[in-house]
Amino acid sequence: MHHHQTALVTGGAGFIGCALSAGLTETFGRVVALDNLHPQIHAHATRPAELAAGVELVVGDVTDAAVWDAVLPEVRPDVVLHLAAETGTGQSLAESTRHGLVNVVGTTQLMDGLKRHGLPRRIALTSSRAVYGEGAWRRADGVLFYPPQRTAAMVEGGAWDVPDAEPVAMDARAVAPAPVSVYAATKLTQEHLLRVWGNALGVEVAVVRLQNVYGPGQSLSNPYTGILSLFARLARAGRTIPLYEDGAVRRDFVLIDDVASAVLAAATSAGVSATPLDIGAGEFQTIGTAASLIADYYGAPAPQVTGNFREGDVRHAWADITAAREVLGWTPRYGLAEGVQRLCDWIEQQPDVPPV
Ligand SMILES: NC(=O)c1ccc[n+]([C@@H]2O[C@H](COP(=O)([O-])OP(=O)(O)OC[C@H]3O[C@@H](n4cnc5c(N)ncnc54)[C@H](O)[C@@H]3O)[C@@H](O)[C@H]2O)c1
Repeated sequence: MHHHQTALVTGGAGFIGCALSAGLTETFGRVVALDNLHPQIHAHATRPAELAAGVELVVGDVTDAAVWDAVLPEVRPDVVLHLAAETGTGQSLAESTRHGLVNVVGTTQLMDGLKRHGLPRRIALTSSRAVYGEGAWRRADGVLFYPPQRTAAMVEGGAWDVPDAEPVAMDARAVAPAPVSVYAATKLTQEHLLRVWGNALGVEVAVVRLQNVYGPGQSLSNPYTGILSLFARLARAGRTIPLYEDGAVRRDFVLIDDVASAVLAAATSAGVSATPLDIGAGEFQTIGTAASLIADYYGAPAPQVTGNFREGDVRHAWADITAAREVLGWTPRYGLAEGVQRLCDWIEQQPDVPPV
């Protein structure tokens, strides 16, 4: 449908970029990935096998204006998918400059480069559920409120949940962002920057806020992302998966295939939504449930609650995907049991799975 058009994907050699790549080459006449093959993600600074053969890979850094000056006049993208990012939430507090540089300045360098060399029709941004922080909770009287980040005193006393309230699904139409990490603040800044710039210059901007993406192709060595791959590596070693807090932390695990179809739809759908679109499976699972599925796959001992807590973790997160279904005509296809099976089957096919 976009066969005469060109798509440029920043971070296109990453987990989501590779999963998207086949769909992009089927949809666009030309697909170019710009990626610096970041050593935390890419054990070898070589083209990943998972990147579709039809994608042209340019190795370069999004923060470097000279890279844009070299790439954009030749590529002249109709659609830009902006995926390149520093993604370690926990890491971001200690490495805020790196997160600011890549996520914020990398986005402004993209914008300035496009202004110098020619505007695309659309930019699709992969934002994150992290922008919501602890999200909104509803009191018994129906009033929504935004609990602050949990204090050390609260969690040390085992007060995991907000008292007398229930969390609500993350829905950009109803829940305001409230980041509680540097990573999240930079992702929200990307949204704001592209929105104001796109409005001023007449470039369509489609923002998808992704929940916890998992599945075949996810990094088995990056210690900062990917809880299910970490659980799988523990379980396959016969170890007991430790559960933080009380094991009842809620997450919306969305299989990479469903994320790829959502991002592709955000890049190509007839219209765009002025409001970001929430992408997830659309239902929550507890971390305990996810861990049990993985332990069962490997015949490992049942996961155990440790009561430990990781600073910066939010208590609950899941998406209301009504708007994404309506605007993108997209629907997720996979539940957690099938997705975990696919992830673990894939891990078992890998030549070297790093030990934990
Ligand atoms: N995976 C998830 O659960 C998740 C959830 C929410 C949002 N996201 C967002 O989706 C996007 C892609 O995430 P992913 O899971 O594929 O991560 P990833 O780390 O696998 O991919 C990111 C890619 O960007 C590249 N990159 C990093 N810094 C760069 C730079 N300065 N210049 C050029 N390329 C650079 C890396 O080499 C990597 O290939 C990110 O914007 C992330 O914030 C991911």
